[in-house]
This record gives sequence, C-alpha cells and structure tokens, in this order.
Amino acid sequence: MAMNPKIEKELNEQIMWELYSSYMYLSMSSWYESIGLKGFANWESVQAQEELEHAMKFYSYMISRGGRVKLQAIKEPPTEWASPLDAFEASLEHEKFVTSRINLLVELAIEERDHPTNNMLQWYVDEQVEEEANAEEILNQLRLMGSQGNSSLLYMLDKELATRVYTPPATDKKN
Ligand code: FEO
Repeated sequence: MAMNPKIEKELNEQIMWELYSSYMYLSMSSWYESIGLKGFANWESVQAQEELEHAMKFYSYMISRGGRVKLQAIKEPPTEWASPLDAFEASLEHEKFVTSRINLLVELAIEERDHPTNNMLQWYVDEQVEEEANAEEILNQLRLMGSQGNSSLLYMLDKELATRVYTPPATDKKN
C-alpha cells in the first residue's frame, strides 16, 4: 500500500509546519518566562504540546496509510516580541497561515479523490476554528488593555492563563 505521492508530499510538509508551530510557541513560552509572565508562559507551553500532538496525528496517519514520513528542516522561530500584544498578533497570523495549509490539503484530497485523507483532515478543519478563536480571544483582551498596557489587568490575565492544562488525547488506535 502506498500513498498518493502528491498527498504524501504535502502531509510531510504539514508535519514540518506543525512542528514549527510547536517550536514557535515554545519560543514564546521562554520569552514570557524571561519577562516574568509565568501564566502566559504556561499557556504557550501547553500550546506547544498541542502542536506536537497535531504533528504526531499526521505522522501516525501517514504510517497507517503506508506513507513514507520524511522529516524536514524546521526553521528558527523568532525569540523576542515587542509585547504580549505583538506576540498574540503573530500567533493569530500564524494560525491563519496554518488554516490556509489545511484548506489546501482538503482541496488536494478532494481533487485526488482521497476520501480517507479528506475525512482525517476534517478534524483539523474544526481544530483550526478553535485555534484562531483562542488566539483572537486573548488578542482582544490585550487590545482592550490598550497599547500602553494596564499592568493590573495584565496580571489578572496572566493568572487566568496560568490555569491552562495540557490534556493528552484519549488513546484511540484509529487516531
Ligand atoms: Fe496545529 Fe495551531 O495549528
């Protein structure tokens, strides 16, 4: 059993983008640690773990279809941002890019009549709605605080973001 080569190529690239996402959010987490925003750091570290999960879901799917996973170079992420607002603007922009990648994959799967891949991708279609909404919600709160930043509101948001917990996916052989 072999995968459609066009799909195999794009899925391999997508594994790289998901791993880059993890790398970028981990970089954000370490930047937040360096400026003392521990809650923001926690939120980004959970996000980095979720992105690893996204990459592994593609990885397992490719293996289950007899595809050949070939890992690609992951570019260096930025290491600093001007402010939390700047970092969340970058996150939302990045998630919109990932959404465009997922849409491209869905279109390719339809074009190539690869129904199982199209079916698998629907999980990511839903996930991207959530990913963009999460970034947008925090971005809106940061915008409300104003560009100068209101330190007591920022402190409260930091407390709230400290509560995010990583939930590993339920063990399901099909995923
Ligand atoms: Fe896996 Fe945030 O997209």
